[in-house]
Amino acid sequence: MAGWNGHRAGVLWFTGLSGAGKSTLAAHVQQALHDRQIRTIALDGDVLRRHLCKDLGFSPEDRRENIRRVGEVAKLFVDAGMIVLASFISPYESDRRQARELVADNEFVEVYVRCSLQECERRDVKGLYEKARAGELQNFTGIDAPYEAPTSPEIEVNTENMSVEESVRKILTVLEERQFFGSAGNTSS
Ligand code: ADX
Repeated sequence: MAGWNGHRAGVLWFTGLSGAGKSTLAAHVQQALHDRQIRTIALDGDVLRRHLCKDLGFSPEDRRENIRRVGEVAKLFVDAGMIVLASFISPYESDRRQARELVADNEFVEVYVRCSLQECERRDVKGLYEKARAGELQNFTGIDAPYEAPTSPEIEVNTENMSVEESVRKILTVLEERQFFGSAGNTSS
């Protein structure tokens, strides 16, 4: 069914530390895609953990199951011809690879949302780093749980020295180069 919507389907997989800016970027890219009349669906860790994945915690096994479910859901939407914006810390390389392998090679675009731990901690938008440092939260990524940075992501953006607009532009450029936008998505902007 991919292509019926006038554009290619695929998964934009945003990975990075908590507070790096994954959800913010995904929301802006989603808006830009809507403006081009491209069908999208956003899947976000904080949201899915309230329903589909509410039985899961943050052990390596639970994170693997979290990413496995999300990967399967993403695949369903790709089969329906949509562009999926998935924002998950997804700290383990092997879990991200599994999600990648569920769809075709040219349908998975990994976006490494790079931001140093110091900066994420300084932002501490949700106050979770403070809790983790105080020992009130265990297995917190970057503090007492690992983050395996992607070694060859399709896209890397550094939210410490790039504006949201610059990052969005970079992502859209790569999608364009990879010919995600068919005739229906080809309104220039
Ligand atoms: S993942 O590791 O399984 O991919 P996911 O992206 O779904 O994680 O959820 C991460 C979000 O859960 C964080 O942005 C944060 O708001 C919240 N959170 C709560 N506890 C933790 C923890 N121990 N480690 C990381 N994130 C946590």
